Order: sequence, then structure tokens, then C-alpha cells
Amino acid sequence: MHKDVERILISQDKLENIVNSLAKRIEKDYNDKEFIMVGLLKGSVVFMADLMKKIDLDFRIDFIVASSYGSGTESSGKVRLVKDLEISPVNKDILIVEDIVDSGNTLNFVCNYLMTRGANSVRVCTLCDKPSRRKVPMEADYVGAVIPDEFIVGYGLDYDEKYRNLPYVGVLKRSVYEK
Ligand code: PRP
Repeated sequence: MHKDVERILISQDKLENIVNSLAKRIEKDYNDKEFIMVGLLKGSVVFMADLMKKIDLDFRIDFIVASSYGSGTESSGKVRLVKDLEISPVNKDILIVEDIVDSGNTLNFVCNYLMTRGANSVRVCTLCDKPSRRKVPMEADYVGAVIPDEFIVGYGLDYDEKYRNLPYVGVLKRSVYEK
């Protein structure tokens, strides 16, 4: 385990089970749809890479970068688009892949944005959900794990852009971010 991690919250084995069961559900639901899988960078990158390999359907992938104004661990609620889709979302079924839903601000913004751009449907698949932190209504359609309000890193999730490469989701030691 990494020295900055206090304990493992979602082990590699658990992550594999989560990914497999989400992939099965998505395969069933999108069986007759040519959807676009859209990852929100950068947090979704590890989860999305694993998830897409398990979905035995034809689909395209694309990425969005959204950023929320604010400092530290609290976001202000104002989100802006930093990088748009390259594939047109008009009349398309879109599955957004995300690492975590926290306040809900990012996904609220991105879902509304894609619908106003003319998407046919927008659904959300998130690895982690922290419902206790919600500031705006946002319910993901596919949730890997509901987690407590702790600072987590790994499997795409960062602190100060580090720890994204850890193969598990772990709780970061307080001493790391309270320095
Ligand atoms: C994180 C995470 C989500 C968002 C969730 O992204 O990846 O996109 O915050 O928070 P919210 O529900 O309060 O909006 P971050 O802006 O840290 O960028 P990253 O994906 O590059 O880590």
C-alpha cells in the first residue's frame, strides 16, 4: 500500500467485480443503441479504460474536460467547459463515465450541456458516489460504490494530480492534505 494511504476502501478485486457488473448492465441496456461513451477527464481515465474493454458492443468514445471554479476541495458550483466533444452529440445516446459524483455540479452542468446540444439521451455511469455531499440534484444511472465522505485517491482519483495510478481506491492520510 502507498505510504500516503491510510486504508484501502475499494480493493483491486472489488474494482474488478464492480466493473464487470456495471459492464453487464450497460451491455443489456445499450444492446440496440449505437451510443457514445464520454469520459470526463482526467479522473475517469482508468475506470473507463477497464470498463470499455468489458462491453461487447459497438460504440464510439470521446472525452470532455470540465473544470469548476473554486479552490482546494470545495467547488464553487460554477463549471466551465475546457474541452468539448469531437463527435457531434446530436440525436446520439450518450453514456458519461465519471470517477466520482460529489456535489453533483460537474455532472449537472455536463448533462444539461449535452441535452442542449441535442443529444437523444444522456446517462451517467460513476465508479463512486458520495450522496452525502450533494449540492444539486444528480442521480447517476449506474453506480459502482456508494462511499462515505472521506478523501479518496487512486484508480484515477487524485490529490494535487498525484495517486491516479494506484490500482485501488484508498483513503488519503489527513497529514498529506492538512500540511
Ligand atoms: C472531480 C471528479 C469529478 C468532479 C466531481 O474532478 O473527477 O469530475 O470532481 O465533483 P462534483 O460532483 O463536486 O462536481 P476534478 O475537477 O477534480 O478533475 P479531474 O477529473 O481531472 O480529477
